[in-house]
This record gives sequence, structure tokens and C-alpha cells, in this order.
Amino acid sequence: MPAISATAPGKLILFGEHAVVHNRPAIAIPFNGVHAKAAVFATPIAPTGRVRIEAQAIGLDQTLDQLAPDHPFAIAIHGVMKTLGITWLPACHIRITSTIPIAAGMGSSAAVSIALSRALAAFLGHPLEDSAVNTIAFQVEQQLHGTPSGVDNTVISFNRPVYFVRSQPIEFLKIREPLDLLVADSGIAAATGPMVAGVSQRFNADPDTYGAYFDQIANLVRQARMDLESGAGNDLGPLMTQNHRLLQKIAVSTPELDRLVETALAAGALGAKLTGGGGGGNIIALAANHQIEKVVTALLAAGARRTWLLNLPRHEEAVS
Ligand code: PMV
Repeated sequence: MPAISATAPGKLILFGEHAVVHNRPAIAIPFNGVHAKAAVFATPIAPTGRVRIEAQAIGLDQTLDQLAPDHPFAIAIHGVMKTLGITWLPACHIRITSTIPIAAGMGSSAAVSIALSRALAAFLGHPLEDSAVNTIAFQVEQQLHGTPSGVDNTVISFNRPVYFVRSQPIEFLKIREPLDLLVADSGIAAATGPMVAGVSQRFNADPDTYGAYFDQIANLVRQARMDLESGAGNDLGPLMTQNHRLLQKIAVSTPELDRLVETALAAGALGAKLTGGGGGGNIIALAANHQIEKVVTALLAAGARRTWLLNLPRHEEAVS
């Protein structure tokens, strides 16, 4: 019997990470250069209800009833069952694979939950709406990261650029002009939860200073939105670099990330910043087409483990 499978992309935060946890806006885009995949195979000869879950990358091969109830996969599977109003599952084998680097600011955990929820629901004959998948993935993110803003699960569930404010209706961005972005991996893994908790602690210790940083980030996000939606992309690069400077101030950058950002700028990028939780992971840089090769070469020479090129297409309805 063929498998029923589903994929979900990674994501990149263009502006506003961390401040978004504190109710400021952020801009995030799907990153289809990497993806998570879940495939569900029926296993008719296995005992009824035996659900085997295999995720080689994290060394996991267990049945659902062996997983702790707060395991992300268990939360996602039970979330699907609850949404569909079912209390048992037919015997099956779920295989999860992913090309999204783990703990690298690319939304790997949300993408896995989303691919898993979609594939399982489709296998059960009831494909889920994007918003239902988003709700399930947010529950997993809450378990994993404590106080997530919800931006990761939202941008990945809908697979569209978003202007995101916590607990507000989702706004999709209409990108007016295509953009070329470079992504460079520092090769250092850093879990999001502790980074978010560290910022919150520092905010609680000095709410005036940190509140002002978050407000400055929010201003950059709003300007970037205008730029992206009007097509006057000239200021976008400097806005990215200013956002990075503020991320340095809230102490989520690292010497390696700073080196990659400065390298990209020195090689002619229009702007650069870390993306995601920081502490490691990736940077993004905006570059004019003729500068891309030079910036990539410089980033690799400065220690980037790998780079990706991402063309953010214009939104069709944005062109009147
Ligand atoms: O590091 P990632 O891919 O999980 O991105 C986290 C983004 C933060 O703003 C730091 C946290 C959040 O919940 O929005």
C-alpha cells in the first residue's frame, strides 16, 4: 500500500524575532529550500492500534504508547485525533525525515509537527485545514519552547509571508518586488527555549531598556513592511542590519553570527542579520543579484558551513 505523505517548509524571520514574543510585530517567510516530511504507511498485519513512529535523525523508533504524553510527536498525533473526534488509530508506521537543520532558527520543530499532522489526517481520510494544523503545531511549540509567539507555526502552516503579531488575526504580506536573500549557517546549534527565556529574564530585570529595544525593533518591522509592500526595497538592507544591531543589544547574537554578518556586509550585501532565536543558527543577507556570488564566497571563507539562496517571489495580487 503506498504511503500517504506531507511536507512542510522551513521558515526565516526577516524582522522582529524575540520582540515578537513581547507582543511586537514580526515578518516571517516560508523557506522552501529545506523541508520536513512525514509518511504514513498502513500496517494491516500489525496489532490494531499499534502506531510506530520512526525519526532516524533523532534516533527515535517507538510506538505511540511508549512515547511520553508530552512528547512533541504524541502531542501532534493526539491533537489530530482530537480535532477529528476519533479515539483510536488504525495500525500504521509513521516515518519522519527532515532537511531542516535542528535548533538553527529555521522552524524545524514546527515544520515536523505540521508535516506529521497533515500526513496523519490525510491518512485517516480527513485532510486538515491550514488553521487546524496551525493550532495543533502551536500546542507542540508551547510544550517545547515555553512561551512561543506562534510565528513559526503560523508562517509554516500557511506557507506564505506573514506580518505577525501575537494573538492578533494573521496578516499575509503582499510582497511587491522579488528579493534575493542569502542564508548562511554558522554550524552552531542553539535551542530556542533558553534564548527566549534569557531575553525575558533580562527584560524583567530592566523593563525600560528592553522595552525600548523592542519598540525600536517594532519600528523597523513596520518600515520593512511598507518597503516590502510598496516595492521600494532600497531601505530593506539597512533595516535588516539595524535589526541585527538591536539583537546584539538584547544579547542573542554570538561572535560567530556577528562575524558572518560583518563579512556579508563587507562583501557588498545590502544588509544582514541573524535569523530566529540566535545563540547560533543562521544569518540572512540581502544582496543585489550581481553581488551574490561574491558574498557567498566570502561567507564560506569566513566559516559558514553552508549557504542557501532564496528568491522571495512577488505576490501575484500585489501587482495592480
Ligand atoms: O529559533 P526559531 O526558529 O525557533 O525562531 C524563534 C523565534 C523567536 O522569536 C525567537 C521565538 C518566538 O516564539 O517567536
